[in-house]
Amino acid sequence: MRAGPQGPSDDFLRTSFPKVSKMKRDPAAVSPINGPSSGTDRKPERILRSTRWFAPEDKNGFIHRSWMRGYPEHAFDGRPVIGVCNTWSELTPCNAHFRELAERVKRGVWEAGGFPVEFPVMSLGESNLRPTAMLFRNLVSMDVEESIRANPLDGVVLLTGCDKTVPALIMGAASCDLPTIVLSGGPMLNGKFHGQNIGSGTDVWRFNEEVRAGRMNLSTFHEAEVCMSRSAGHCMSMGTASSLACMVEAIGLGLPGNAAIPAPDSRRLTMAHMVGRRIVGMVHEDLRLSKILTREAFENAIRVNGAIGGSTNVVIHSLAIAGRIGVDLCLDDWDRLGRNVRTLIDLMPSGRFLMEDFYHAGGLPAILRMLGENGLLHRDAITVSGQSIWENSKDAPNWNPEVIRPFDRPLVDDGGIAVVRGNLAPNGAVLKPSAASLHLMRHRGRAVTFESIEDYHQRIDNPDLDVDENCILVLKNCGPCGYPGMAEVGNMGLPPKLLKQGVTDMVRISDARMSGTAYGTVILHVSPEAAVGGPLAVVRDGDTVELDIPARKLHLDVSEAELKARLGEWAKPAPAMKGGYQSLYVERVMQADKGADFDFLVGCRGAAVPRESH
Ligand code: FES
Repeated sequence: MRAGPQGPSDDFLRTSFPKVSKMKRDPAAVSPINGPSSGTDRKPERILRSTRWFAPEDKNGFIHRSWMRGYPEHAFDGRPVIGVCNTWSELTPCNAHFRELAERVKRGVWEAGGFPVEFPVMSLGESNLRPTAMLFRNLVSMDVEESIRANPLDGVVLLTGCDKTVPALIMGAASCDLPTIVLSGGPMLNGKFHGQNIGSGTDVWRFNEEVRAGRMNLSTFHEAEVCMSRSAGHCMSMGTASSLACMVEAIGLGLPGNAAIPAPDSRRLTMAHMVGRRIVGMVHEDLRLSKILTREAFENAIRVNGAIGGSTNVVIHSLAIAGRIGVDLCLDDWDRLGRNVRTLIDLMPSGRFLMEDFYHAGGLPAILRMLGENGLLHRDAITVSGQSIWENSKDAPNWNPEVIRPFDRPLVDDGGIAVVRGNLAPNGAVLKPSAASLHLMRHRGRAVTFESIEDYHQRIDNPDLDVDENCILVLKNCGPCGYPGMAEVGNMGLPPKLLKQGVTDMVRISDARMSGTAYGTVILHVSPEAAVGGPLAVVRDGDTVELDIPARKLHLDVSEAELKARLGEWAKPAPAMKGGYQSLYVERVMQADKGADFDFLVGCRGAAVPRESH
């Protein structure tokens, strides 16, 4: 692989994938209702799924072809039909450029001898959706799964960008298991404010604390607002969207370099074109999701998340995706595999730089190469390129050792997600060490509790709140059932009276999630959550809580008998909403340590052709 002038090697953008031969329309395709079509008895090379719609020379074939007559005859000649699953929406500004990306994908599909058909699914815009986009991740996954299975598709391109669009689309596709490739939308350009880079989310949290501490006025705050999001694209710090884009590449679902090309960069369009070409080849090779999403691939993704200082949200989403494809992944795998993984990039929120800098420094292939050289990568894991992850990355350059640190000069020595357990989190909770404060990694403190996020908002600014910098803030009822949807509120802002004293971090514990752009010594995803009667529900003001990250311990310092008695008195809170999707969600969502998927969606149901509708 030859190095390009900047960014990762761009050779993958010039790759000519093996020439693909067209499948012939299968004249022997069976109409489930009318039986075998009349015609010759010629045997096809391999019967494509779509031929069950478009090949029969009968009434049903007539219907399937006739209603799509905007396309030329050769669209129905047996070539692979490729679904382009689009999450474009004006309410999802991170995905605002997806119409053009979809067009570029379709060019590539036609060029490689396929027939592209674009279809929409519900989009999830993290910045607008209430109560939280996470509430709808499983709903969208159902939309994707059923859209794929019900339609004449042989392969799928997933257009993903804003946070939840990534896991939702992969989860749905995984339950079908067709050849599938992911095209990430790419990060937006670096934010620029007063001559400095500012990062999505990360600097919002920072500026907000400055305002609450009285060190920034509202006029400056509003000035920053128009300087942060300079283009389409997802958040450009190493937040959840960037972490998930890296997961996509690390797990083998994206072409090399897919994670970091900025959204407005012309190479993102080229990438889209190449994705379109490649998916046609994947259909011919029958390179399905289940051949790529192996246990080894998930293990690679876990280690990469540590190496990039990635989001805690990747933990939940990876568990949900693994559950769909049938890989037995658990929370402890994250702790075991993430231990001693060095954080090798200096990106916000753990460090200084942003995704645009990461791309120009070499992008994810440079990280994969370093992990591969140091025994931290399953080199043979196959990827959508048709090559192993090691073949994709073994010659990847690093153009900027400040942004992508050399292996022996990491940003953080032990950057993998830490999983803590104890009587306060029997089924586990997580912390992102690279974004936490070293002096709080072992800490005992007095609990200051909040029964809900509204309770927190009502009292946190009160100067009479009995809290000091050694206290531990405990937030309840923000988990999957409690919120519902498990909102990103775990990184509670600190009390203004402490901010004014210069306090910058405190231990915070909750059953919520936090934005991947956020930082602090924040224990998240406590399982079981308070709203289903987890021990978090019965923590009281004044209790002592002990956190010991090196020992992976989270302990409520009350006797076993006392804890049992408190849990015996606990009463389940009334549901926030009766009926509708939210009721289904609360009834069937699993806890965070299981990926917060619906229990009835776990597993791969395949893509057998459904019965005829006519
Ligand atoms: Fe869309 Fe951050 S708001 S990725």
